[in-house]
Amino acid sequence: MLELKNVSYYYKSQMDKTILDHISYEFKKGVMYAILGSSGSGKTTLLSLLAGLDVPIDGTIFVAGEDILHKGLNAHRRDNISLVFQNYNLIDYLTPVENVRLGGKADAEELLAQMGIDEAQRKRNVMQLSGGQQQRVAIARALASKAPILLADEPTGNLDEDTANEIIAIFQKLAHEQKKCVVVVTHSRELAEQADVVLRLKKGKIADNTDSGEK
Ligand SMILES: Nc1ncnc2c1ncn2[C@@H]1O[C@H](COP(=O)(O)OP(=O)(O)OP(=O)(O)O)[C@@H](O)[C@H]1O
Ligand SMILES: [Mg+2]
Repeated sequence: MLELKNVSYYYKSQMDKTILDHISYEFKKGVMYAILGSSGSGKTTLLSLLAGLDVPIDGTIFVAGEDILHKGLNAHRRDNISLVFQNYNLIDYLTPVENVRLGGKADAEELLAQMGIDEAQRKRNVMQLSGGQQQRVAIARALASKAPILLADEPTGNLDEDTANEIIAIFQKLAHEQKKCVVVVTHSRELAEQADVVLRLKKGKIADNTDSGEK
């Protein structure tokens, strides 16, 4: 579904520091992946490349066999990807309802209610919500999307345990019932334990951690 072939990356301001070192990996649909790795290991960078927000220095990213550069990054972002990012990427002059409607045609009010955003909050400017509430709006927006790939960067970072567990359950459903390819970057052991496949990013390489017993 989503394949990295020999992907390398460094930031042009820091060319001596390889962030991703010839990574090849195929993410399948219907599977929930967790990506672990210490701070600075390149997790957000990797998601940015998968999302088409940036381009690898070397190597290719394919979706359903097509090079995303060939498809065009705008089309890739529009058709293939829904994003829940560390800084939320909410449009700050819009309300939660308006933000979720940007994600897709689904019932924005209903999705926000599901996420525990009450009626008054739904109509407020998103900047007048707490960090955790903003994060839930970002998740509702991703849920409104029909895109086959969900990329989430620390989606439960600002949330209490109950809300975090609900969101993990929703991500699992998206993978298992809606057959999406779900890739979640996390520091949370609970979240990683609920994933089907646990990957670890370390020294620019990606390692499948699922069977090693080490977490
Ligand atoms: N725009 C940038 N320019 C130069 N270096 C950057 C830039 N963004 C990130 N880096 C560096 O690249 C490395 C990887 O960053 P990245 O944000 O991908 O890490 P991460 O694994 O997501 O960390 P965290 O768990 O803290 O979110 C870090 O050393 C970071 O300092
Ligand atoms: Mg990060």
